[in-house]
Amino acid sequence: MQAIPKLIQGGMGIGVSDWRLARAVASLGQLGVVSGTGLDTVFVRRLQSGDIGGHLRRACAHFPWPGVASKILQRWLRPAGRTHGERYELVPLYVHRTDPERDALVVLANFAEVWLAREGHNGLVGINLLTKIQPQTLPALYGAMLAGVACVLMGAGIPREIPGALDALAAHSPASLHYEVAGANNPVHIEFDPHAYWHELPAALSRPQFLAIVAAHSLATVLQRKANGRIDGFVVESPTAGGHNAPPRGNLALDERGQPVYGVRDEVDLTVMQGLGLPYWLAGGVGSPEGVKSAFEQGAAGVQVGTLFAFCDESGITRELKDATIAAANAGSLRIHTDPRASPTGYPFKLVQAAGVPESSPERDRVCDLGYLRTPYLRPDGSIGQRCSGEPLAHYVNKGGDPADTIGRRCLCNALMANIGLGQVRGAGTTEQPLLTAGDDLVRLARFLAGRVRYRAADVVQYLLQANSRQQALV
Ligand SMILES: Cc1cc2nc3c(=O)[nH]c(=O)nc-3n(C[C@H](O)[C@H](O)[C@H](O)COP(=O)(O)O)c2cc1C
Repeated sequence: MQAIPKLIQGGMGIGVSDWRLARAVASLGQLGVVSGTGLDTVFVRRLQSGDIGGHLRRACAHFPWPGVASKILQRWLRPAGRTHGERYELVPLYVHRTDPERDALVVLANFAEVWLAREGHNGLVGINLLTKIQPQTLPALYGAMLAGVACVLMGAGIPREIPGALDALAAHSPASLHYEVAGANNPVHIEFDPHAYWHELPAALSRPQFLAIVAAHSLATVLQRKANGRIDGFVVESPTAGGHNAPPRGNLALDERGQPVYGVRDEVDLTVMQGLGLPYWLAGGVGSPEGVKSAFEQGAAGVQVGTLFAFCDESGITRELKDATIAAANAGSLRIHTDPRASPTGYPFKLVQAAGVPESSPERDRVCDLGYLRTPYLRPDGSIGQRCSGEPLAHYVNKGGDPADTIGRRCLCNALMANIGLGQVRGAGTTEQPLLTAGDDLVRLARFLAGRVRYRAADVVQYLLQANSRQQALV
């Protein structure tokens, strides 16, 4: 088992930390992490856009279920791409019942992303998934493992059953997860059985290391005691990190800008972390040479950084959005807003706000056609339904949802696809608007840029680590 490097490039969904970024970081000897969130849609949209460069087809040629890959390519690939203003065709919404064809698409999409990230070097590649998004988790993990993923990183929930699932999937055995269904009294499970896809089982896969992403030492302690398999370490993420944040402990208080207020109860006690005897990486606001140095001084094995990588050349965010954000950062006209309502998950979500950076509005005509953030609930007839507080109000209420839940919600699924140039076309040629997220550190991007208007992943790695080793040498 190879040691995880001191710098982890954080997983950034949807498609921000794609295979190009993870490959760039991994080939520099650090941990490059692809985001596995929503990859089935990313995959079929890239295919519909012509699979420019033939990368997905190259990865598919190495997929161990050849008939499956060719069938999926035949179904979704448009070699000449879409015509101007043409809508993307959608994959059917995911349901919790096992559907081998739908699962195979998730397996292939995750395989291809990890395979491409690993191509041409010997570095380590990880995959990040959100615990809360349950139905795709098992096929996503299995696809990533078929491609040789070295590490799985999961937060946004309590990933207690993931270590056991990794053990099972490495042996090509059936795996299952407890499915959180609102209103259900009896346990519900989601299952994935690799046997269904093989005529003859191949040799066991290597079991990736598992890092749990936590925002509290109490959660790390619980996970270490109660996880159903081996945990290899933790990423300790503070509320300054980009993307979703854990909500503050206790009653929600808001500051004058309407952002959640965090207090001493939210601080992680690193002496408790040290007592667990597993390595930990600090995340959130440590994307600077001083941040890295201070992490080591606090006993960390390293840092996980997202924000600095999110706007480098290799990330999946469109060039236009990167340019607008970098210009605003250089002009000092950018701010980060931690919005307690924007995300249908109910977790606070950080938004980049700057003149010239477009932002999907809460007043957008609501459409829920990707559905990754839908949550399951028990219908009166005993069947399981799915609802999202970002979907049309009437639909949500008809499904028993509380109208108050819908206030201020944005459609993250569609907006995040727009961030990476895969936004859906709506009526009259309009496309879904983006919604950028980044950590509080983004306001200090100008310092790192030092007058540059673009930069590469290698610049970030060098900034964080070389400067740090120089400082360490001086101490
Ligand atoms: C654009 C963006 C998207 C992110 N998406 C995810 C995600 O999908 N899953 C996750 O666990 N963390 C996500 N994060 C958090 C990062 O993995 C990382 O922990 C964080 O960015 C570290 O703090 P920093 O923003 O101060 O660098 C995201 C961060 C950014 C900036």
